[in-house]
Amino acid sequence: MSEARFIVAPESKPAFTRYSRLHEDVVRQRKVILAPERAYELDPIGLAVLGHVDGVASVAEISQRLAQTYSAPVDVIQTDVVKLLQGLADKRLLRDGPDAFSPPPLSQTAKSYAPFERGPAGLLAELTHRCPLQCPYCSNPLDLERANTELTSGEWGDVFRQAASIGALQLHLSGGEPTIRRDLEEILAHAVDAGLYTNLVTSAVLLTRERLAHLAEIGLDHVQVSVQDVVPESSDHISGYEGGVAKKRDVARWARELGLGLTINAPIHRQNIDHLPQIIDFAVEVGAQRLEVAHIQYYAWAEVNRAALIPTREKFLATVGIVEEAKKRLQGVLNFDFVIHDHYASRPKACTGGWGRSIMVVTPSGKALPCHAAQTLPGLSFDNVRQRPLGDIWRNGAAFEAFRGEEWMQEPCRSCDKREIDYGGCRCQALAVTGDAAATDPACHRSAHHEEFAALGQNESLLPAPAFVYRRLGGADRKEKALDEQPA
Ligand code: SF4
Ligand code: FES
Repeated sequence: MSEARFIVAPESKPAFTRYSRLHEDVVRQRKVILAPERAYELDPIGLAVLGHVDGVASVAEISQRLAQTYSAPVDVIQTDVVKLLQGLADKRLLRDGPDAFSPPPLSQTAKSYAPFERGPAGLLAELTHRCPLQCPYCSNPLDLERANTELTSGEWGDVFRQAASIGALQLHLSGGEPTIRRDLEEILAHAVDAGLYTNLVTSAVLLTRERLAHLAEIGLDHVQVSVQDVVPESSDHISGYEGGVAKKRDVARWARELGLGLTINAPIHRQNIDHLPQIIDFAVEVGAQRLEVAHIQYYAWAEVNRAALIPTREKFLATVGIVEEAKKRLQGVLNFDFVIHDHYASRPKACTGGWGRSIMVVTPSGKALPCHAAQTLPGLSFDNVRQRPLGDIWRNGAAFEAFRGEEWMQEPCRSCDKREIDYGGCRCQALAVTGDAAATDPACHRSAHHEEFAALGQNESLLPAPAFVYRRLGGADRKEKALDEQPA
């Protein structure tokens, strides 16, 4: 079901896809396009053009109308309109002709929220830590939370309404495996009512077509299917679960048949790195709009399994070339998010978009975290949404304040001109490698630990890979048992 690039021409009749839309961002007093994992801010010209995009008016007609409104030459206007629309079409947010799918229901409550400055743009809701898969790089903590501590659907609804009221636009329904929750439909209905853009982050293995169709009917916008590999034996080995690839292919196909946005998320490491070209083909074949090629971040379970996961520098560099080539070849068909490998980087990533700046994570039992690995940082205390309002936690919570802004920075970050770009990198990685959470991320070439960090990656990647310690309740201290229980 691979899909062709939409080339915008004067006779095209552009329309938003089922999974993208114009949205009033009340809190920040602006209009945005809500799209998978993104909110695109619009200038007045963009807004004027998109106000005419309905799947009925052609680009030529839209240009005529705008030329009249602004008393400008139609050919100049049309060139600009095509350019703007082509950019959105290449992000797979527009289609030619009216959309075959009904848009998700509009929230009755979202518009009434009181503005609150600088809230999080996104909320990652870990609905449960239960999961049928056992990926050895899972970002959940080693100490997984138990089912009997999980927030109820009503409590999640309250969290979503509070999140929307302080400015959250995107909601990631994640886990563990969120579809293990029997009340996922109720949880989703709360999210839709709060006016959030909903993304279901799933391994896909538990979903039926009927259930996915029901979720789409309630108003789900987007599905992110995680892929361990597309070579079945390798996928089974990495996930500790048999038969996942066929199931993922089915769910991806159903998502597209239902008009949902689709991202394939592929964590990349030494045990699947050679299959990257096939993973790209898989994403094209199932009609995904986005592919995340994400080199592993080494904390939580991935840190325990680092020696089994870390690729060589040469193999990492090869993935850069493969993705660059595929980006050009698949323009307008598949968009890429490429997360580089920190050990082989010279600059760090702006982890989580900067601590306490952009996202908030809520664990199954209601702990509010600035990033999903934040519990690895000693000395931080985390507020619970059962006890404190979300906006207050975001604004004043000790964990959110700990590494916000620049006050906490040491040299070289403190005086570096990149500090407002990468915010000093990842706090969790800084702690894991240097023992100091306020240190410069060792992925940075200016860190005193950078060379040692890069060498560690390369040295470890050249040794034989040890067996995986699979993710499971009870933590990684059950290593002996985990190794014994591995598939041959
Ligand atoms: Fe970023 Fe700090 Fe490195 Fe500068 S020194 S590039 S702020 S991590
Ligand atoms: Fe916690 Fe990067 S994972 S700040």
